[in-house]
Amino acid sequence: MGKTAETDLRETVMKDIQGAVRLSVAYIGLSGGLLQGLARLMAGTAAQIAAAAGQDAGYVVRWCDAAFAFGLLDEEPRGFVLTPLGRAFLPETPGTLMPFAVQGVLSAHMAERAAGLMATGERPGESVLAERATILPWFGPMLEAQFGPVFEKTIMPALTIYDEAAGRQGFAIDLGCGNGWYLMRLAHAYPGLRCLGVDGFEENVRQAQARAQAAGFGDRVRFVQGDIYRFEAPEPADIIALNRALHHVWDEQETVFRILHDHLKPQGAAVIWEPRWPHERIALREPSRRMMAFQNLTEHVQGNHFLRPEEIAAAMTAAQLRPEIFSFLDDREAVVVGTRAG
Ligand SMILES: C[S@@+](CC[C@H](N)C(=O)[O-])C[C@H]1O[C@@H](n2cnc3c(N)ncnc32)[C@H](O)[C@@H]1O
Repeated sequence: MGKTAETDLRETVMKDIQGAVRLSVAYIGLSGGLLQGLARLMAGTAAQIAAAAGQDAGYVVRWCDAAFAFGLLDEEPRGFVLTPLGRAFLPETPGTLMPFAVQGVLSAHMAERAAGLMATGERPGESVLAERATILPWFGPMLEAQFGPVFEKTIMPALTIYDEAAGRQGFAIDLGCGNGWYLMRLAHAYPGLRCLGVDGFEENVRQAQARAQAAGFGDRVRFVQGDIYRFEAPEPADIIALNRALHHVWDEQETVFRILHDHLKPQGAAVIWEPRWPHERIALREPSRRMMAFQNLTEHVQGNHFLRPEEIAAAMTAAQLRPEIFSFLDDREAVVVGTRAG
C-alpha cells in the first residue's frame, strides 16, 4: 500500500472514531438531561448544569470538557452555551439528531454482544435490548423521531385505509406499539378512530399511556402491556398495524397471521410496515441502507431477521388476506396492506 493510500485510510478511520465518540458524548448529555438542562438555563457553569439536571457535579465537569472538545458546547463569559450542533441533539428540535446518538451507543452495545455470542451461536432474544438501563427509555423516542415524520408526511397520506376506517368510527390496533407514536398520530389526525396499542415492554406502555393521558384522549386511545402471540381483541378491528414488529414474531408467522385474520372485520386490513431487505447484496453498500445491514446482525442476536415484502404478502395470502405492497423512501421501507374479504 502506498504512503498516501495508507494516510488516507488512517484519516478516514480517525474521522470515524471521532464521529462515534461525538455521538457518545451527545448520548451522555441527553441521557443525563445535561443538554436539556443547559437549554433551559441558556448559559451555565458545569455546577449549574449539574444542578439543573440533577446529576453529579464531578461527572458533569468532565462531560463539559468532552462536549466542548467535540463542539457541542461553547464557552462564554457567563458560562457554557449550546452550539448549534449541541442544540440539534435536543429531542424537541425539529429533525432532531437525537436518534443518531442513541443508535451510536446501542450499536456499540449490540456489537459487543454479537462479538461475544458468535462462538456459540447463542441468540438470547430481545432481553439484550434491556441490558443497558439508560438506553431503554430512549427506544421509543428514537424510533418516533426516525419514523414518525415519515409516517405523517409520506405513508399516512398515501394509504386510504385510515380515512375509510375513521369514516365508519372504526377501531385501530397497533401490535408492538412501542411508545405509542403511531396511534397518537392517527388519533390526532382522525378524531373518529378508537385505538388500542399493545406492547411487551413495560417502559414502552408506560410512556404511551402517559402521553395518551396528557393528550386528553381518555378511553379513545388505550395502551396495554401484552404478548402479540396471545392477543385477544376486545372487538373486531378495522385496522391492525404492526410497525417494525412483524420481524420480531416472524418465527410464529402462522399464529400471528391467524390472529390478524380472526380479529379483523370483513374489509378490515392488516397494515404491516417493515424495512425492506433488498434482493441484491450490492444494495447494502448504499449509504442509506448500510445501517440496515448492521441492524440485521443485531436482529440476529435477538432471534430475528429482516423480511422482504413479498414474504409478508405470501404469508397474508396463506392467511386469506388480500395483500398489496406499497414502497416508500426509495424502496427502503415497505408497507404491506392485507385486506380481509368482505
Ligand atoms: C422495533 S420495535 C417497534 C416499536 C413501534 N412499533 C415503532 O415503530 O416505534 C418492536 C416492538 O415490538 C415489541 N414486541 C416484540 N415482540 C413482541 C411480542 N411478542 N409481544 C408484544 N410486543 C412485542 C417490542 O417490545 C418493541 O416495542
